[in-house]
Amino acid sequence: MRLDKYICDNTSLTRSLATKAIKSGRIKVNGIKPKSGALKILPDSDQVVFDGHLIEAQPSTRYYMMNKPQGYVCANSDGEHPLVFDLMNKEINISRLHTVGRLDKDTTGLLLITDDGQWSHQITSPNHHQAKTYRAWLAEPLIEDAELKIEAGIVLKDDIKPTLPATMQRVSDTEVLLTISEGRYHQVKRMFAALGNRVIRLHRESIGQVTLDPLLAPRNYRMLTLDEVQSLSKIQE
Ligand code: URA
Repeated sequence: MRLDKYICDNTSLTRSLATKAIKSGRIKVNGIKPKSGALKILPDSDQVVFDGHLIEAQPSTRYYMMNKPQGYVCANSDGEHPLVFDLMNKEINISRLHTVGRLDKDTTGLLLITDDGQWSHQITSPNHHQAKTYRAWLAEPLIEDAELKIEAGIVLKDDIKPTLPATMQRVSDTEVLLTISEGRYHQVKRMFAALGNRVIRLHRESIGQVTLDPLLAPRNYRMLTLDEVQSLSKIQE
């Protein structure tokens, strides 16, 4: 692999900054200052050092869970609001990351973030029916037959097809746990709107078998374990 590519892949430097760093003698490969970024290196055995700090090879794909706080948007740019990626400024090459689906600005809880497009597609694709569980707090006490309606499927405003059968557990008359296997636009809020209610707070607790880590405070994130990554790659029936 070319030295300049290795530096770009594993630091926040652009190709031109990497070239500058090489030319100005700030990079050493196995203790020697290289002349050009075209130098071929062996990432597994060569030691590349920048200003005395070893540049370590980053995993080629990255997988995180975040406890998303309110007020942050799931986008790579937004002129107005803070981005969930603003909370990840310790990471390099943040622009390569994307959120797996989106949570609304005011929704909190489990958010998956990755640079593996195939993996995120498996989770968000409507064909894969990955279950997502939300805790919703409601403005009004729930109607009596809400569970039956949710299990049967509800036609949302401006949609034709009813929602897929979902399950709901009542924690109280104004707090519920809802598990859905689709990801329509504002789906949870629209489902309760169709039942004559309004969601006043929404928090995602799990996606498939991956549950929000109780040790993660809002705004914090961690890498997913291999088991967590693999459990979401399995196609659901
Ligand atoms: N459904 C919603 O209405 N909002 C979210 O953020 C997620 C699911």
